Amino acid sequence: MTIDAFVFDAYGTLYDVQSISKVTSEEFPEHGALITQVWRLKQLEYTWLRSIMGCYRSFWEITEESLIYTLDAIGIGADKATRDRIMDKYLHLAPHADCLTALDALQGVPLAILSNGNQEILDALVTNTGLDSRLQAVISIDKAGIFKPHDKAYGLVEDALNVKPENTVFVSSNAFDACAAKNFGFQVAWIERVTPEALAAEIAAAEVVGPSTMFKLLRMQMENFDMEPDHRLASLDDLAGLIKPTQPANMNA
Ligand code: LAC
Repeated sequence: MTIDAFVFDAYGTLYDVQSISKVTSEEFPEHGALITQVWRLKQLEYTWLRSIMGCYRSFWEITEESLIYTLDAIGIGADKATRDRIMDKYLHLAPHADCLTALDALQGVPLAILSNGNQEILDALVTNTGLDSRLQAVISIDKAGIFKPHDKAYGLVEDALNVKPENTVFVSSNAFDACAAKNFGFQVAWIERVTPEALAAEIAAAEVVGPSTMFKLLRMQMENFDMEPDHRLASLDDLAGLIKPTQPANMNA
């Protein structure tokens, strides 16, 4: 199949949202792991709920609202200065180990981000982590005023890059995002960062299932929809294998 562009989800796919645990653990040593996981779960939930209610707010605002929810629910709360220090990490998330090598291997094909992040925070993150020189476009769903997995959000790609969905590979490690992108009409590569076997082994070895394992159970396994992605890849580095090497014209001559 023709591939005219690769479009990546940001949080969880190119960027490691778990790297937030560095600051949550610094600020709250006893609750870092719990805050990290509940915050991310709640943040995504709020994007969906606000989309359904037609009450759009930027991803940055939702990220702060879900952080406040999390800290209050755990019973610790935090002043604005503490919250600001935690929030700032969203502008400096660590790229996944395979992010730069994968983007470098795909140079020559248009590469872009389509993320629920608002434009300002995506641009800051991409610049702060050196991805700006590797991407042709950073597309925020802000313009659609509704979050993925709504079709309107995925529809922004065609306008921004002038590529047809069927000729675009959408790449995500968020299973809900991969399924919705498939439903929309993209070719889809799901990055399976935690296999069912690895997760089962982790659960079997655990005395008590902790927050990080719970997150893997809820957000890092394939959804039970009839919207299977075209490719299940262990790493972003495997994307290069989707581009067929050019055959020399007279190879068999
Ligand atoms: C994003 C969320 C889905 O980057 O992680 O759009």
